[in-house]
Amino acid sequence: MDFIRQIGIVLLIAVLSSTHADNPQIDPLIYEEQLLWVGGGAGEVNTYRIPLLTFTTRGSLLAISEARKMSSADIGAKFIALRRSKDKGATWSPTAFIVDDGALADGLNLGSVVVDEETGAVILIYSLCFHRYHCNPSSTMMVQSLDDGFTWSAPRNLSVELGVKSFAPGPGFGIQKRYLPNVGRLIVCGHGSIAGDGVFCILSDDHGKSWRYGAALKSIPYNQPKQDLDFNPDECQPVELEDGSIVINVRNQNNYHCRCRIIVRSLDGGESLPVEELVFDKTLIDPAVAAGALQKQGVMYFTNPSSAQHRVNLTLRWSFTDGKSWEKEAVQIWAGPSGYSSITSLKGDSPEDSKYIFVIYEKGHKDYLLCSVARNETINPAIADEQLLWVGGQIGEVHTYRIPLLTFTTKGSLLAFAEARKLSFKDIGAKFIALRRSTDRGATWSPTSFIVDDGALADGLNLGSVVVDEETGAVILIYSLCFHRYHCKPSSTMMVQSLDDGFTWSTPRNLNPQLGVMSFAPGPGFGIQKRHPPAVGRLVVCGHGSIAGDGVFCILSDDHGDTWRYGAELKSIPYNQRKNNLDFDPDECQPVELDDGSIVINVRNNKNYHCHCRMVARSLDGGESLPVEQLVFDHTLEDPAVAAGALVKEGVLYFTNPANTNSRVNLTLRWSLNRGKSWVKDTLKVWAGPSGYSCMTSLKGNETADHKYIYVIFEKGQKDYYESISFVKIDLYSNQ
Ligand SMILES: *[C@@H]1O[C@H](CO)[C@@H](O)[C@H](O)[C@H]1NC(C)=O
Ligand SMILES: *[C@@H]1O[C@H](CO)[C@@H](O)[C@H](O)[C@H]1NC(C)=O
Ligand SMILES: *[C@@H]1O[C@H](CO)[C@@H](O)[C@H](O)[C@H]1NC(C)=O
Ligand SMILES: *[C@@H]1O[C@H](CO)[C@@H](O)[C@H](O)[C@H]1NC(C)=O
Ligand SMILES: *[C@@H]1O[C@H](CO)[C@@H](O)[C@H](O)[C@H]1NC(C)=O
Repeated sequence: MDFIRQIGIVLLIAVLSSTHADNPQIDPLIYEEQLLWVGGGAGEVNTYRIPLLTFTTRGSLLAISEARKMSSADIGAKFIALRRSKDKGATWSPTAFIVDDGALADGLNLGSVVVDEETGAVILIYSLCFHRYHCNPSSTMMVQSLDDGFTWSAPRNLSVELGVKSFAPGPGFGIQKRYLPNVGRLIVCGHGSIAGDGVFCILSDDHGKSWRYGAALKSIPYNQPKQDLDFNPDECQPVELEDGSIVINVRNQNNYHCRCRIIVRSLDGGESLPVEELVFDKTLIDPAVAAGALQKQGVMYFTNPSSAQHRVNLTLRWSFTDGKSWEKEAVQIWAGPSGYSSITSLKGDSPEDSKYIFVIYEKGHKDYLLCSVARNETINPAIADEQLLWVGGQIGEVHTYRIPLLTFTTKGSLLAFAEARKLSFKDIGAKFIALRRSTDRGATWSPTSFIVDDGALADGLNLGSVVVDEETGAVILIYSLCFHRYHCKPSSTMMVQSLDDGFTWSTPRNLNPQLGVMSFAPGPGFGIQKRHPPAVGRLVVCGHGSIAGDGVFCILSDDHGDTWRYGAELKSIPYNQRKNNLDFDPDECQPVELDDGSIVINVRNNKNYHCHCRMVARSLDGGESLPVEQLVFDHTLEDPAVAAGALVKEGVLYFTNPANTNSRVNLTLRWSLNRGKSWVKDTLKVWAGPSGYSCMTSLKGNETADHKYIYVIFEKGQKDYYESISFVKIDLYSNQ
């Protein structure tokens, strides 16, 4: 195994088919994803690695991993970490450490989990001193649970009966034979090195009471150091086919013959692995890693980082021919760094159990090749490009551009919007909505088009929030009319949308018949579409009101923007009345969704209540409520009371504002690796001078090119912050 520091271990639930169960069509969809472990936090172990996943006979899921105490290395002291789910992966018990190897120099290594479906026992086999680093000999160890993974036996030393050959089981699951020959036999396969070199299996015909060696597939040269391109079968995952044969999907450690998986087959219940049965599966390209395999209802599934060179691009494949061929469609689970994976499914009677498989895998956000660097030091943002998109007051131009918004589209374009204030710099008055599009990641931009014109209103339009429906591809822009009720009444909440990547726009639609006439100033910034439960697919647009509907609130649509209703509200105090300085007055705001499904709203603290800093509100119910108990003041995010930018990208939270308690100067990018609990000390100064509102986005289209960048749009000036609107492309990993 390699020296790797990974970021998290993730459980993923894939729906195999949305159609009827007896339809052989497999059309997997990622249904839900949750991070189960992230190492390196305060009081945490250094690294979690080597995730295993199994069903139990009572229908629970058990997720098991190595908790590496002090370093990310394969050697060293570890716990075995366990989390249980009794509701098909929706919720998980807190981590229990079921085995502790103390302070060994070459501690435990996972491992293989096997369920005895006759007794209900869950058996976990792992190794101690596998690398013989400051210790000798290696031991093969076993613990078991007879109560659905709740309590575990003391470790038992299987080397007493097996001998002291180095055996690294799995990683993955072992099997219990269901078909002839040897129904009921437990088979755990793994690999050895030096003593017992290659793939081999251990067998038990008495429910784990006694074990012996079975099949072996020996490396060449055997029990000797290997070179590149030598035959060196390594970590492996067995599955049983309906004909009773056992197929073992094997890591091709030294890239012998191909950069792809080795497949070997046992026809005698794991007693032998004849070389005649060995094939190289060139469809399953592989960077040499532990992969996941599962046989379910006649379909074989396979997960690995599908790349010949790097541990990236975790991909799910499936085969209707027991692995002889693979379907052309494959589902990319994660384009970025991804390592070991394991798959399981439940065997209950409910239709869901035939519909879902569960994948656990190592997931990260940076290149595995650089992983000895601590993860908070990998983000090293630098400005890669900057362009002024709008400068007001030129000949024939509108007076002032303000309130910039920026969004991605599902086709990978960038759309920049701003208010084009026709005759003055003021918030009231007549305006256009200006748009520029870029289809080349911000390198070039279309000329400005004015997609909405409010005529000559005394209290015209105000931006605004842009939200992309990733299911339909629609780009929806919500803005207000007559927000200040200056020579007009009532306020209106308006919507336009584009169904062609921002090229053409619908006529404005007044949402007041659905919403009523509360004053609502959306954003400014972007709205979100929920990706994680609850309320997956919901559009959530947050903003603030004043006088009628005073404070922060959100409007929600569960039908792709056809109908909208009010959701969460965080009321100002005194409500719907004039505020004094230092009153509680939540104002302009930017929501983001965290990977736990909560919505975090970064809010302008308009009257500097409690601090000259940002307020952060949180909704745990998909934008229905914003409980005051969840509200915090983030003293790190000093702020002069302004609209700020926030963005979640690949688990990292980014924030932009003029970082100054009194003036709109010093536009600064910050980032947090723990969902905003704290911010990395380093910052990127985007512009030291006058700077106002800002908004961020990132692209999701082309993972290789789009992983590296975020895009910021902000108000920038030499003397006044509203002189121009600037677009900045930021390279997050500028030192790589
Ligand atoms: C396990 O048993 C083997 C063989 O008796 C012995 O050499 C080894 O030290 C034992 N390991 C542990 C951890 O007790
Ligand atoms: C990811 O995997 C898929 C399926 O094997 C493959 O088509 C694609 O080229 C891979 N992408 C990268 C960047 O390796
Ligand atoms: C700019 O922001 C940085 C980071 O918060 C801070 O250290 C610095 O003092 C700020 N400078 C000004 C002039 O506000
Ligand atoms: C990175 O993390 C380490 C340990 O958690 C900490 O000591 C260090 O100050 C952090 N570096 C930055 C730039 O935040
Ligand atoms: C991804 O980006 C690279 C570099 O810009 C480009 O060569 C490639 O064609 C893009 N792929 C897709 C699918 O857009």
